[in-house]
Amino acid sequence: MSPIPRHLLDVGDLGPDGVAEVLRVADSFVEVGHRANPKVPALRGRSVATLFFEDSTRTRVSFETAAKRLSADVLSFATGSSSLNKGESLRDTVETIEAMGIDAIVIRHPSSGAPAQVARWVQSCAVVNAGDGWHQHPTQALLDLYTVRQAFGGGDEGTERISGLRVVIVGDVRHSRVARSQVAAYAGLGASVTLVAPPTLLPPSLEGWPIAGVSHDLDRALRSADVVSLLRLQAERGSGQCVPSLREYTACFGLTARRAATMEPGTIILHPGPMVRGVEIASEVAELPSARITDQVTNGVAVRMAVLFLVLGQGTTEGSDHG
Ligand code: NCD
Repeated sequence: MSPIPRHLLDVGDLGPDGVAEVLRVADSFVEVGHRANPKVPALRGRSVATLFFEDSTRTRVSFETAAKRLSADVLSFATGSSSLNKGESLRDTVETIEAMGIDAIVIRHPSSGAPAQVARWVQSCAVVNAGDGWHQHPTQALLDLYTVRQAFGGGDEGTERISGLRVVIVGDVRHSRVARSQVAAYAGLGASVTLVAPPTLLPPSLEGWPIAGVSHDLDRALRSADVVSLLRLQAERGSGQCVPSLREYTACFGLTARRAATMEPGTIILHPGPMVRGVEIASEVAELPSARITDQVTNGVAVRMAVLFLVLGQGTTEGSDHG
């Protein structure tokens, strides 16, 4: 049975085999990205709609670039100028889009669970979650895994090495869908995950989270980290009420140049973006060779190509001969 589900709603839906498959397929799409004409016909004749109900720069552009590089037709649905403003429900919008023959809907929504609801409404469309509320952001976690795997040797060997890594996730875990997906993805491949945050920025309960521990001491956590993954304070979700001031947050939990200098040479730094320089990460730290933030963006396109190819291409193209 294929390890790839019809919809990608939660990174946990993939399981370790599905994750390994996405990473493997992404390898060949990274190679495509290096070509003079970075395009393959894998999804010619198929169409992908992006439905973003929240602000986004990189995720939307990344998905649309991925779909175009696979030769799919892309419909970018501007929710601000749609009939949603005339009172149309999400269900009617989705059913209208599906009736036009769209094959995949990539959806970002401020409500946790909206993509799962959409998946229940559609008949034959694939649904890909591009971030829902505080809940999940599966392709972000996958592109993070890809970037870590690349930094630690690449290929299946790199995937295996993830199982021995110590990953530290720092910041606004409470409001972060990225953190929820990352924890599941890293732990699913056997990495040891430590959350570092003030108590107010942790979820009320961590029961069931597959983590090695929680720390409020960033300096200490950095000493034994292989991967340091930073989170933005989610001001739009109320993080401002959880910290006394930005200055104090940065003093205790920001990756400052002084702190970055204490890290082991092989430790890498990740950030999903958008970065707020000077708050969770110092500007000069974001420019260090150990910061793989630009690689994350580049890899994001290949990983999303792999996801779209796998959810849409199953059974419609021969094997992985998509070049
Ligand atoms: C993240 C998101 O939207 O959840 N950004 C992204 O997709 N690259 C993280 C964030 O907004 O802080």
